[in-house]
Amino acid sequence: MCGIVGAIAARDVVPVLVEGLKRLEYRGYDSAGVAVLAGDEIRRVRRVGRVAEMEGAAAEENLHGLLGIGHTRWATHGGVTEPNAHPHVSFDKIAVVHNGIIENHEEQRQRLKGLGYAFESQTDTEVIAHLVHHYYQAGGSLFDAVKQATRELTGAYAIGVIALDRPDELVCARMGCPLLVGLGDGENFIASDVSAILSATRRVIFLEEGDIGLLTRDGVKLIDKDDQPAARPVHLSDVSLASLELGPYSHFMQKEIHEQPKALSDTIEAVQDAGFNAALFGEAAAEILPQLEGVKILACGTSYYAGLTAKYWIESIAGIACDVEIASEYRYRAAFANPKHLVVTISQSGETLDTMEALKYARELGHAYALSICNVRESAIPRASDLVFYTRAGAEIGVASTKAFTTQLVGLFALAVTLGKVRGKVSAADEAQYLDDLRHLPGSVQHALNLEPQIKAWSERFAVKDNALFLGRGLHYPIALEGALKLKEISYIHAEAYPAGELKHGPLALVDEDMPVVVIAPNDALLEKVKSNMQEVRARGGELFVFADADSHFHESDGVHVIRTPRHVGVLSPIVHTIPVQMLAYHVALSRGTDVDKPRNLAKSVTVE
Ligand code: G6P
Repeated sequence: MCGIVGAIAARDVVPVLVEGLKRLEYRGYDSAGVAVLAGDEIRRVRRVGRVAEMEGAAAEENLHGLLGIGHTRWATHGGVTEPNAHPHVSFDKIAVVHNGIIENHEEQRQRLKGLGYAFESQTDTEVIAHLVHHYYQAGGSLFDAVKQATRELTGAYAIGVIALDRPDELVCARMGCPLLVGLGDGENFIASDVSAILSATRRVIFLEEGDIGLLTRDGVKLIDKDDQPAARPVHLSDVSLASLELGPYSHFMQKEIHEQPKALSDTIEAVQDAGFNAALFGEAAAEILPQLEGVKILACGTSYYAGLTAKYWIESIAGIACDVEIASEYRYRAAFANPKHLVVTISQSGETLDTMEALKYARELGHAYALSICNVRESAIPRASDLVFYTRAGAEIGVASTKAFTTQLVGLFALAVTLGKVRGKVSAADEAQYLDDLRHLPGSVQHALNLEPQIKAWSERFAVKDNALFLGRGLHYPIALEGALKLKEISYIHAEAYPAGELKHGPLALVDEDMPVVVIAPNDALLEKVKSNMQEVRARGGELFVFADADSHFHESDGVHVIRTPRHVGVLSPIVHTIPVQMLAYHVALSRGTDVDKPRNLAKSVTVE
C-alpha cells in the first residue's frame, strides 16, 4: 500500500508534501517521511507513527525546499522502524519514495551488494534507490537512470525520485500502483491520488502502466512502456475539498455513516436517469448482457459482503446463476470458467491488488466480459473492465468502509434488475416497484440513522465484552457478516457471523451469559425461523440484541433487547439494516477508545497480496 506525493515549485514544498501525506494516510500510517533538496544536500525527516509526528519533526528541523518527495507507509518488507521508513536514499545523492512491492528485490539486493552498495533498511524499496544511483553515476540523465532501473524491476511500483544535482527535476514511474501528475502554475506534482494535491491543483494526468514522467516547474514529459512519447489526457478533478474535511464530525467514519442518505440518493439518481437499462453499465452492455449465462462476483472484505448480498438479488430477480468468491482465493485455484459468465469485481478503491489479479486471472481462464462496481473514477480495476458502474459515494476516508458498501449494493441491485429485464423476468410493474423502492431508500436510511442514541446506549454493554456473535438469515446474513467485520475491525472485539440456522451446528457451543448475540430480524419470510434460533440462544443464557422492524413484533424481555428499525423496505432491507450495525461498531469502538478511522494493522487501500 503506502501513499506517495512529490512537488517541484518556486515555493517551499514541505507544507504541500505534509498536507498531501495527511490526505494519503488512509493508504497506511505506520511511518511517514519527506526528503527535500535543500541547498547542497538532500535533507530527510522520517518518523515512525502518524504524519503529524513527522510534521512536528520537520518543523523542528526547519525543513524547507523547492523540490521534494514524501511517503506514508503500510509496512510490508521490514518492521515499523525509522530505518525502514521512506524516503530511501543512495549515497545521499538519490532519494526515492515507493508504493508497491518489488518482487525481485532479493536478487537485485545481492547484485547491488556485489557492486558495493550497503543497505540500511530491510525494505524492497532501497534497491530502487541504489539501482537508480548505479545507472545515474554511470552518466546520463536522471530520467534515463530511472528508466533503466525500472526496466529491471519486476512487481508493482509507483515511485518518485529526486537527485542531489538535479534541483529542477522530479522523476516518477508507474507500474501496477496508482500515480498521477498534478499540473500547477509554474509548479507540478505527483501523488497516489488526487486528494493529496487538491489544494494546489485540480488538473491531473493519470499515468498508465509503464509510464515514466519527468516533471520540471514548467512542464511534464511522459514516455510510455515502449519508450514512446506519451500524450495523456488532462482531467479536471471534481473531488471537493469539503468531502475530505471532517466538518462537524469527530471521525470520518461517523461522517461517512451520516452521509449515506446523500451518497445513496446520488447513486440512485444515476439509476433513475438511465432506468434499469443496459446503458447504465456502459456502451457495450446492450450487446453483452443478453449473452450472459451467469455471474461470477470477485471481491475482498466489505466489498465481498456486498457481493454475497447481490447473489440473493441476482438469482431471485434475474433468475441467473451467480457465485461469489473472495478474490485472493479465486486467483490461486484451478477454477472452472464459463466464458459467458460475467465477471463482476466490486471494489471501493478500484485498486485492490487481489481483486485486480483475480480479474486478470478470470480473463486468462476465458471469461469474456468483466464489469466493475467501483467508487473511484479512472482507477485500475474499472479501467481493466469492459463495463462499469461508478457508485457516487464521494471520497471515503475511514478505513472501515461504510457508504461505499451501501452504494455498491445499489449498483448491484440495479444490475440484478437490469439483468432481469434483459431476460424477461422483470415486468414493467416490477420495474416501477423497484424504482419506487429505490426512491424511498434514502428516507429509510435517514430514519435508521435516527436510531443512534439507542444504539449508543447498547454500545456500553458491548465495550466490556471479548466476543460477539451476529446472526441473520437470507438477505440479511451478509449484513450480519458485515456487522461482525465492522466490529472487529475498529473495536478489536472478536466477532463472528452465522446464518441463524447454522447456530446449532457449532457456534451455539460458544453461547453463554458473556456472549452478546446481535440478531438482524426484519419481518421477512424467514422471521419465524429466526425467532426459533433466538430461543436457542436465550435458553443457553445468551443475551440478545435484536434489530427488528415494527412488523416483526418483538418485545423487550429479560435478556432480550430490541431496537425498532424502519419499516421493512422489501428487497432493499439489507441496505437499511446495514446502518445500525455500522453505528454499533462505531460507538463500541468509541467506548473502547480505539482509533476509529485508522484501526491498527489495517489500511484502506490494499495494493499488496
Ligand atoms: C481493505 C479495507 C476494507 C475493504 C477491502 C476491500 O481491507 O480495509 O474496508 O472492504 O480492503 O477494498 P476495496 O477497495 O477493493 O473495496
